[in-house]
Amino acid sequence: MITKIMVANVQDIDEQGSRTFSVGDKEIAIFRLSDGSIRAIENHCPHKGGRLSEGMVCGSAVHCPLHDWKIDLNSGKVQEPDHGSVIVYETEVEAASGAIYITL
Ligand code: FES
Repeated sequence: MITKIMVANVQDIDEQGSRTFSVGDKEIAIFRLSDGSIRAIENHCPHKGGRLSEGMVCGSAVHCPLHDWKIDLNSGKVQEPDHGSVIVYETEVEAASGAIYITL
């Protein structure tokens, strides 16, 4: 079943900043890139579970705050030389209100 949920508002997230949103036992990290676009991924590093929402955004990747693995916010893939991936959620921003929706 596809569910669309409003998770935040664009105006509430600084450029290169993040917010988190919980759905059941999952935590989702929502990022605003420097070009203003929005990405959403699971907030759990595949290495040792670091909270990616607390990492530094650089271009379209986030650096895990624990051991600096770099995770691509478009594909969810960990960049070489490390390996792994996180779930990426489809996002949509309502132009008039700035409301951010993710699709689960
Ligand atoms: S927990 Fe993310 S790099 Fe180690």
